[in-house]
Amino acid sequence: MIGREGRETRRNAPRTAVSESYVRSLPKAELHLHLEGSVGPDRLLALARKYGTEYASLSAAALTEKLYRYGSLHEFLGAFKVVCQHVRGKEDYGDILEDLAESLLRQGVFYAEIIYSPSIPWIWGRDGREILRHLLKTGARFEEKGLVIRWVLDCVRQFGVEAAWRTARLAAEHRGRGVVALGMGGDELSLPLTEYRDVFLWAKAHEIYIHVHAGEIGEPDQVWSALKDLGANRIGHGVQAARDPRLIEYLREHAVGLDVCLTSNLRTRAWAPLSQHPFPLLYRRGVPVTLNTDDPGLFQTSLTQEYLKASRIFGLTARDLQRIALQAVRCSFLPHEAKMAHMQRIQDQVGLG
Ligand code: ADE
Ligand code: ZN
Repeated sequence: MIGREGRETRRNAPRTAVSESYVRSLPKAELHLHLEGSVGPDRLLALARKYGTEYASLSAAALTEKLYRYGSLHEFLGAFKVVCQHVRGKEDYGDILEDLAESLLRQGVFYAEIIYSPSIPWIWGRDGREILRHLLKTGARFEEKGLVIRWVLDCVRQFGVEAAWRTARLAAEHRGRGVVALGMGGDELSLPLTEYRDVFLWAKAHEIYIHVHAGEIGEPDQVWSALKDLGANRIGHGVQAARDPRLIEYLREHAVGLDVCLTSNLRTRAWAPLSQHPFPLLYRRGVPVTLNTDDPGLFQTSLTQEYLKASRIFGLTARDLQRIALQAVRCSFLPHEAKMAHMQRIQDQVGLG
């Protein structure tokens, strides 16, 4: 069981580690993963060769060394942009979705909310709407294999309000056809969230959920603004909220989930080392926290690895991981009936230990 204090938790950790086979067997939902960030070095190399870019002549190891190392969130966003420059046609998007969906299925993930940013193809003069249509079709094919995919259309914070309006209209057009939320990602330290208030309130009035990256590297004020100005239903990262006791209480009382992404926080230095990460504190205080990969390709991780990492570092037991898997369903943008059915399935899961 998770300790009462961070120090105690770490001292307990070795006694309570959970096996990889247990984590794989646990039915899991992932709520925070960027499609574009799912591109690992091998797929990127294939795209670089297809388009003859400057990365085409590198080995996978050299490419990893050159592009997949970050000293800050800003450096990471630079690498993310390079990846986006390689994912061009709708077929490229379809291919990376297939890679991702196969990986999720292998890990026992039955539900994923995947983030796609149509403003990225729009910037390069490509058809972000046609790409979305192709993604919806490709994603739907995985339902019969046991993976339900829903989409969060992301506005990139530094791209401005016009691109956000375009993204919101695209989301409204596809609500009920696989798109569940309007999101806000990108550089948290660029434009203030208040600039986007009208866009997000319009989306909310169109019954679209609101998902906002906030408190990843920014102050707790960013999380307050996401909640109060944009009406966020769930927060991407939000770990800086741990520095504000009143915000912790608000998140708990209003049942607003935080998508925690441990490896991402470590690799971007948003919060390092992980032994000092606020996840155990938030979990203990009753904030609805979940575990996610953010960008599994760029951070070279998987949901299974994130669960194992949390267990190892914070001393989480199998029962804790089961609670977190349940929490992910509760915090998802699934309809009530589906949530109940999935939660029952997780609760029925046997082989704790
Ligand atoms: N886009 C992809 N990953 C991101 C992150 N960790 N923060 C903000 N925007 C992102
Ligand atoms: Zn993210």
